[in-house]
Amino acid sequence: MPWFNTQPRRPRNESETWFMQIYLLEQTESVVPTGDNWLGQREIIALHRMRFAKRRADWRLGRWTAKRALAACLKLPDSIPALAEVEIIAGSSGAPEAFRANAPLPVTISLSHRAGTAICSVVRGNARMGCDMELIEAHSQAFVTDYFTAEEQTLIAHTSAAEKPRIITLLWSAKESASKALRQGLRLDTRWLSVTKMVGTWEMHGWNPLHVRYRDGRIFQGWWQGNDWLLRTVVADPAPKPPILLEPLIPIQVGSGIVTTEVPQLGITATDLRQAGRCDATALTLRHTA
Ligand SMILES: CC(C)(COP(=O)(O)OP(=O)(O)OC[C@H]1O[C@@H](n2cnc3c(N)ncnc32)[C@H](O)[C@@H]1OP(=O)(O)O)[C@@H](O)C(=O)NCCC(=O)NCCS
Repeated sequence: MPWFNTQPRRPRNESETWFMQIYLLEQTESVVPTGDNWLGQREIIALHRMRFAKRRADWRLGRWTAKRALAACLKLPDSIPALAEVEIIAGSSGAPEAFRANAPLPVTISLSHRAGTAICSVVRGNARMGCDMELIEAHSQAFVTDYFTAEEQTLIAHTSAAEKPRIITLLWSAKESASKALRQGLRLDTRWLSVTKMVGTWEMHGWNPLHVRYRDGRIFQGWWQGNDWLLRTVVADPAPKPPILLEPLIPIQVGSGIVTTEVPQLGITATDLRQAGRCDATALTLRHTA
């Protein structure tokens, strides 16, 4: 089966590590078709079981993002009928699994949706991989005490008040990504997952390294990028190379921060994003007064 870009390079000898390649696509609600003819039959049944409009909207956005990511990675047709043949079905754990014409596709995918935006990460084969996206928000001390390890709590205690929301959100997102890679989600005690490395700069260009250790000693390596508003993390075992974006993210400048997604609280809409993309495909910045 054809695969987007290159295949993961196998190690030439035992001392060489095999790095996996993650592909990532981000989409916003505004690009999701209003009809449901791009969904498969099993997906339609799952959708009709959902009672709340927000849940249905998030779920549809996740499915759309995943199908488009798979079409790009596997070089599948991406017409509406072709997308309906690809189904993203929740496994018994809740983790998304990809099928085409009812046969499993040879990939592992992970999904996250937040504030009208979704990301889908894809790797070849059956892997432990998870992704997460969060808006940077303040969290209470009770949240920190309940969900973080003693070492993480010490790190947070030594972080300035201004930096705390970013550091706490980053730690949290890294744990969520790892909990998805383990296909457990928040059934796991988040203190069993300990963030042991997170270095880098707060800007939406490039990826910064991240390590999360599970209580059995397994290390999930991964990557993060974030700014004042938004954060993405992705982790995997075996170690992944920095994610390759399937479509460029469009940076939008808001005050001193850069966002690449809709932020309804700031009045940044998908229309703004599209206009920014039309004006300059490389790095147009659009200034908003929040
Ligand atoms: C996985 C989980 C941590 C994500 O929570 P979140 O931050 O609210 O949401 P995100 O947008 O980042 O991720 C949601 C996606 O994670 C994926 N996911 C759900 N359970 C997962 C699991 N066990 N492993 C890996 N991925 C999972 C799904 O694709 C889900 O989106 P979808 O349901 O629309 O397909 C959370 O859903 C969870 O803990 N689930 C397991 C426990 C559970 O099922 N509880 C039932 C609800 S009470």
